[in-house]
Amino acid sequence: MRRLPLAAFGLVSLAALACSRAPRSPDGETRPPPASSPAPPDAFAASSVDAGASTETTALEDAGGEPPMERTPDIEYVPTPENVVDKMLEVANVKKGDVLYDLGCGDGRIVVTAAKKLGIKAYGFDLDPQRIKESKENAKSAGVEHLVTFEQKDIFDVDLSPATVVTLYLLPELNVRLIPQLEKLKPGSRIVSHDFDMEGVTYEKWWTVIAKDHQTPRDREHYVYLWKTPLRKTPPAKPPAKKK
Ligand SMILES: C[S@@+](CC[C@H](N)C(=O)[O-])C[C@H]1O[C@@H](n2cnc3c(N)ncnc32)[C@H](O)[C@@H]1O
Repeated sequence: MRRLPLAAFGLVSLAALACSRAPRSPDGETRPPPASSPAPPDAFAASSVDAGASTETTALEDAGGEPPMERTPDIEYVPTPENVVDKMLEVANVKKGDVLYDLGCGDGRIVVTAAKKLGIKAYGFDLDPQRIKESKENAKSAGVEHLVTFEQKDIFDVDLSPATVVTLYLLPELNVRLIPQLEKLKPGSRIVSHDFDMEGVTYEKWWTVIAKDHQTPRDREHYVYLWKTPLRKTPPAKPPAKKK
């Protein structure tokens, strides 16, 4: 079946955004995009994609038994590099008894890694049936089918209350839209986001990880943000003092 080019969906390139929006350091400073920024969005042609990493959205694709896609995803599929996945699980202090939800799970790598390395139950949600199919295949290859669940579902319809760890690789504005759902997490739950902050909520800490992006030939800085529940609302900025 014909593959739709990404441009057909008017989607935003995550990797380009990651480099154009500098993260805030814990003291509120911003820093410039990393020197190793990937090429601009136009250069993100599928031709530069690493083997094994499919980055095209597959609205018309036959996803082998999964129901058709209900609507266009809010962000394109870009996988998190494996060493960034490891960092996300490490900083979230994922341990036995935790239940992890990955919102927009792509090929299921975060869910499958958490189940395989830490033996926990993990759930992945994605609108794209092709991604759900890949996730299930990856879970089978890793021998963790008994620990993981993948559901073709809009992340904004997911009840997060059973989760103790939530992982995100979305967009800053999607992170913000998730705040009402994230506020329902149990106290002590952790939220980890690859590359993007969540405006209005104060993070605990952020880290830098160097990794090759699947859409760029060079290594770049990836960012990992951690929040804990109950979420701490960022106080509004004080208005500038009036000049006398
Ligand atoms: C950047 S990828 C991240 C994949 C994976 N979490 C990772 O880090 O490797 C974002 C994923 O979110 C999915 N997505 C976008 N909007 C969605 C929505 N509203 N509901 C469910 N999935 C969505 C896309 O199909 C895509 O697979």
